[in-house]
Amino acid sequence: MRDGRVRQHHRTLRLLGSLLLVTMGVSVTGAAPAAQASPTPLDRVIPAPASAAPGGSPYQITRGTHIRVDDSRETRRIGEYLARILRPSTGYRLPVTAQGSGGIRLRLAAGPFGAEGYRLDSGRKGVTITAAEPAGLFHGVQTLRQLLPAAVEEDSVRPGPWLVAGGTVTDTPRYGWRGAMLDVSRHFFTVDQVKRYVDQLALYKINKLHLHLSDDQGWRIAVDSWPRLATHGGSTEVGGGPGGFYTKADYKEIVRYAASRYLEVVPEIDMPGHTNAALASYADLNCDGVAPPLYTGTEVGFSSLCVGKEVTYDFVEDVIRELAALTPGRYLHIGGDEAHSTSHADYVRFMDRVQPIVAKYGKTVVGWHQLTGATPSRGALAQYWGLDGTSAEEKAQVVKAAQNGTGLILSPADRVYLDMKYTKETPLGLSWAGYVEVRRSYDWDPGAYLPGVPGGAVKGVEAPMWSETLEDSGDIEFMAFPRLPGVAELGWSSAVSHDWERYKGRLAAQGERWGALGVEWYRSPQVPWGSGGR
Ligand code: ACM
Repeated sequence: MRDGRVRQHHRTLRLLGSLLLVTMGVSVTGAAPAAQASPTPLDRVIPAPASAAPGGSPYQITRGTHIRVDDSRETRRIGEYLARILRPSTGYRLPVTAQGSGGIRLRLAAGPFGAEGYRLDSGRKGVTITAAEPAGLFHGVQTLRQLLPAAVEEDSVRPGPWLVAGGTVTDTPRYGWRGAMLDVSRHFFTVDQVKRYVDQLALYKINKLHLHLSDDQGWRIAVDSWPRLATHGGSTEVGGGPGGFYTKADYKEIVRYAASRYLEVVPEIDMPGHTNAALASYADLNCDGVAPPLYTGTEVGFSSLCVGKEVTYDFVEDVIRELAALTPGRYLHIGGDEAHSTSHADYVRFMDRVQPIVAKYGKTVVGWHQLTGATPSRGALAQYWGLDGTSAEEKAQVVKAAQNGTGLILSPADRVYLDMKYTKETPLGLSWAGYVEVRRSYDWDPGAYLPGVPGGAVKGVEAPMWSETLEDSGDIEFMAFPRLPGVAELGWSSAVSHDWERYKGRLAAQGERWGALGVEWYRSPQVPWGSGGR
């Protein structure tokens, strides 16, 4: 579906863009060395912290700095994680130790921080991050990273100085669900590619990694009781490439790595539609007993599990049982979108059978918002992916479900689908939900998005990344940056801090950090890059 030459041309353009940035970074640094000596203001962080009170002297990381941790294993692990970020660029030893005082200190203590909040106190003698839970310490560490010069992300020694502004940041998230979805079905991404994205998500305090593990084009997770799902159903992808699948060990490694960055993996098996890869793997799953060929195109809505056959529920139960056993997180996503080849009655019947299976294996159901057209089980979450143009009737159905207790995750496609093109010139991505520039992606309020939804029903936001046109980490990054940090801010920061003019200045300052991290990104003309927002 793509012209290889066009693609190569766009890659070259992206590379030129990155080179331009590097050149600019050098000239900015060269022209204004004094700017480096004044530390980043405490509020110049994404997501915006709940409160930032500047005051007192800055802290300077030096050759003698220690990272002090309390005796807990997790605090020590977070200390080591921070040290691994800081050592290459500072060139300092930065020992992680439970002894002494001063320096960078990570401590767990009771306080009004909630499950993910923290306080960061910075002054001449040191920086202390305090939290009630390890996740809060980890998020505080991300704030500390962003308060240090972007060059701290480099993998070779830089001159510094490594200053952290004096004062106190007190921070806690608005929503408990701040997700990013990666479609590993349309194109397969390796464990290392997923880990790379996890690291980028962690920098912005994203806490859910939703993996879209199955679709028409590929089944990506090994299931022992139905082995052909992965070996046959995972053997290709959009465009006819080799595809791939995660072994159980691979998947566990993703779960472990995500957890080490305080992201919970939410696995999705999409059903009853988006199931061609499964139907192609087992003839028995088809109503007519005939397996269709594998599919490498990008149409949707043509496949359905056979709702009337008992074997369908044996299959669903086996898959859910094995996947639940691999997944320590609370949630299991059952898809449910675009079931255009399933009658409404069959859809309702299917969801009535499948949701209790999820509960049987100890998990909470998440489904795309079409689930609200069936009977969502108690405690289920519906992920809204409509757009401005979605019919009033469909929106009303979602609102009604929310009023009846179904929690919502907001992923409006014309705001936060990271695979939508930025403009008509964007070389990657789709445009069925329109073009989504950076401002459009950021400038809305999840709490007020669907009128009539009770405040408490909104559990958070999630940025899906569908991969029909995306093949590697560079492609993912080019679509995620700079939009992903905006979605992270919508999920974390309070509505009162929402302000595009100020946000775009903070966002501009991130460009240099992405450059240092080797992350590809789109140089949106809406953002004052280069000025760094200063
Ligand atoms: C979807 O974009 N079909 C959830």
